Amino acid sequence: MKLPRKILSVFGTRPEAIKMFPLCHALAADERFDARICVSGQHRGMLDQVLEIANIRPDHDLDLMKPDQSLDALTAKLLTGIGAILDIEQPDIVVVQGDTATAMCGALAAYYRKIPVAHVEAGLRSGDIHHPWPEEANRKIVGSFARWHFAPTETAAAALRRENVDPGAIHVTGNTVIDALHWITARIADEPELAAGLAPVAQRFAGRRVIGVTSHRRENFGDGMAAIAAAIREIAELDNVAIIFPVHLNPNVRRIMAAELDGLDNVALLEPLDYPHFARLLDIATLMLTDSGGVQEEAPALGKPVLVMRETTERPEGVEAGTARLVGTDRQRIVAETRRLLGDPEAYAAMARAHNPFGDGKASRRIVDVLAG
Ligand code: UD1
Ligand code: UDP
Repeated sequence: MKLPRKILSVFGTRPEAIKMFPLCHALAADERFDARICVSGQHRGMLDQVLEIANIRPDHDLDLMKPDQSLDALTAKLLTGIGAILDIEQPDIVVVQGDTATAMCGALAAYYRKIPVAHVEAGLRSGDIHHPWPEEANRKIVGSFARWHFAPTETAAAALRRENVDPGAIHVTGNTVIDALHWITARIADEPELAAGLAPVAQRFAGRRVIGVTSHRRENFGDGMAAIAAAIREIAELDNVAIIFPVHLNPNVRRIMAAELDGLDNVALLEPLDYPHFARLLDIATLMLTDSGGVQEEAPALGKPVLVMRETTERPEGVEAGTARLVGTDRQRIVAETRRLLGDPEAYAAMARAHNPFGDGKASRRIVDVLAG
């Protein structure tokens, strides 16, 4: 009888947890695998919110988050910390997701031990190593030695082929974020109270057009973040509008958003929402303003127009499908594009159509089957 393959999933931030929990569920339910989980704790509160709702109990938790730590301090601790877990577990396969410091270090620690790496959400490229920063470099590093490249879309697969990755190692699976979104939507349908905490703010803003906002990109810190904050302040002055903004826990984001937006009547600055509540926000929002990667993928699946506050995107599929539009971090442009969408029903209708460019919700199943092969 074939022994189950020991597979260690390594992740540490909110978006990785959201995109990995469907795969962790699928691996745990499959007897071909002995599935183990190591979280780095690169994020704490925002990671734990996901672990709790998805009922994920890590086998190892490195608890590495320190307030506002530098990338080099974080990277050093991640590399040695994950390496030590690999020496204990000695897995047959290490799985990482995306492009965070945890993903890059988890993959590198595995490579140093000649353990094959599976890369979930492989092949995203903006073509600019400074946007997003440092994620564009992180994912290229993982992609340079991964054994399995799970590309969410054909565009991502083509980017890998252009980098001379063995075509036999590339598998187009869809993005696991859509698996996660389907899972959470079904959970909320069964247990509406999971997302009931948004009701007071939704009631407070009843009759207004709700704009959902998220922002956290490191390359936007400083002038970019200040421009985003000023744009949101100006948008809040438009007629019949309300803003719901769950603010990322990064102090560089919180400081500037609190200074510019605290105390405005129609702006709700909230703590990070857990996934059911964020899914509810996507549901009630007229449009989303974001610099997030994950939100760019979720909004098209729900037919919510999304204005992307970035200069480039590694997720062109949302733009091509017509649901996303790049607006950069220029205050006037963000305000102008928002006004246009709110004031022009035809422009709005053209963007507000559900598309599935990022997957059909079956990505985890496909990944498991390839890894078992
Ligand atoms: C990280 C990832 C980024 C991803 C983002 C998702 C890297 C280099 N960056 O960026 O790719 O898009 O997560 O949100 O891997 N903090 C808390 N509690 C938390 C989380 C963060 O207090 O639960 C604060 C801490 O002060 C922490 C700081 O935010 O030091 C920054 O966290 P970090 O993981 O280093 O970077 P992010 O900007 O969150
Ligand atoms: N999200 C959440 N609560 C929030 C904001 C975002 O659950 O308050 C979810 C969102 O649905 C998406 C993911 O977090 O799946 C995106 O994470 P983030 O923007 O932090 O990182 P990125 O995707 O840019 O790497």
